[in-house]
Amino acid sequence: DKQRRFPDDFLFGAATAAYQIEGGWNEDGKGESIWDYVVHNNPAYIKDLSNGDIAADSYHNYKRDVEIMRELNLNAYRFSIAWSRVLPTGMINNVNQAGIDFYNNYIDEMLKYNITPLITLYHWDLPQKLHELGGFTNPLFADWFSDYARLVFQSFGDRVKHFITFNEPREICYEGYGTDTKPPIVNNTAIGTYLCAKHLVIAHAKAYHMYDKEFRPTQGGQCGITISVNWFGPDTDSDDDKLAAEITRQGEWGIYAHPIFSAEGGFPKELSERVAKKSAEQGYSKSRMPEFTEEEKALVRGASDFFGVNHYSASLTSATEHKVPHPVPSLMDDIDSGTYTPDEWPKSSSSWLTFAPNSLYNALTHLNTRYNKPVFYITENGWSTSNDRGLIDDDRIAYYRAALENVLDLLDDGVNLKGYMAWSLFDNFEWNAGYTERLGLYNVDFEDPARTRTAKKSAFVYKHIVTHRYIDHDYEPEAMI
Ligand code: FCB
Repeated sequence: DKQRRFPDDFLFGAATAAYQIEGGWNEDGKGESIWDYVVHNNPAYIKDLSNGDIAADSYHNYKRDVEIMRELNLNAYRFSIAWSRVLPTGMINNVNQAGIDFYNNYIDEMLKYNITPLITLYHWDLPQKLHELGGFTNPLFADWFSDYARLVFQSFGDRVKHFITFNEPREICYEGYGTDTKPPIVNNTAIGTYLCAKHLVIAHAKAYHMYDKEFRPTQGGQCGITISVNWFGPDTDSDDDKLAAEITRQGEWGIYAHPIFSAEGGFPKELSERVAKKSAEQGYSKSRMPEFTEEEKALVRGASDFFGVNHYSASLTSATEHKVPHPVPSLMDDIDSGTYTPDEWPKSSSSWLTFAPNSLYNALTHLNTRYNKPVFYITENGWSTSNDRGLIDDDRIAYYRAALENVLDLLDDGVNLKGYMAWSLFDNFEWNAGYTERLGLYNVDFEDPARTRTAKKSAFVYKHIVTHRYIDHDYEPEAMI
């Protein structure tokens, strides 16, 4: 439909994260992160026993990365800074200039070609030394993060106007502290998620206010946060299923979004009441979910210039069906509902990623109403294939076209959506799945020391959309036929 176009100033880009692409894990003074620690000390934690020591070697290939952005006609690129590359111990007393230089070169190379850089400050690679002090469970975390954030704003904010403090609090807190699915593998099911959630949003808010006061007046940019918002709809129209879906949304992302984006602030009501009640039954002297003081609530509420959304998938939620027993106090037991994906929704190579009809539209429409029409960026969206699939990725193309039709629908509705970043620019280290799950628009040959990058069919299709600003469903890239 050529009538429906993406606005000219729409940021159309792709995203990556430091640990997944950079390599150079200990080069030029970089310190150890929790990912370095886990892949080296517990290799079996990664499906194919691989690691990100070299990854796509962007530390040495950054000019080729920018060349790919140009090949795709992108006007934006979202990447993350490795905290331990600029502050090897995590602490501000020891700045690694070589790390700052690397990111300066990367940014300057983008700016040469009018590509707008978006920086994520934290994409999961906590300096190991800070983990040894408790990481996100230490209330001082906000101070360490503020020091680091100030360094990032000072070093790059003259040229970078979009900052994202944290990537995906759910994956940081629930997966890293409430379960054993991600480093630092704290696995404190009872309070890990909630304690981390509170400290994370406070750290975000302090960094936001610092940017607002100390940097915005001269730099004039924006600072926000990216939350993973997969869609959870009710299995049936029953009130019980609707409530189950609501509580699931609160546990999955409301506990991070509500304190920042809702009018009342604090953790979402239904879930906190439920956790308080369960905690009492379980013999705790107070709720496992911490409270915010009024002062903390006020600090956090409204502390974001935009809502970054990473969206991939959806599930249906039932109050009675598909429940998994959770024998110990945990977020999943607190949510106490069953989720599933219908068989007819196409499956990707990642167990958590299915192609659910209109999931992006549903998620954003909900957030838009719920949180009073914030500015949005889609900071990640994409599809996973296995590593032996080659360059013809028609399922990824179908996924992107459907998602981008949703974006056009949202723009038609007047949703204030300013940009879209495909995940990912090229194949990279997909965390626990190692190199077995591929989400890139470009293939990377990980056997090849040069880490050669080659466009997949989806790259040509994405380029066509980005360039012409509409979705041509019949377009077949000649180079691929
Ligand atoms: C998201 C992560 C990103 C990538 C995609 C597939 O949860 O933010 O780093 O791994 O999933």
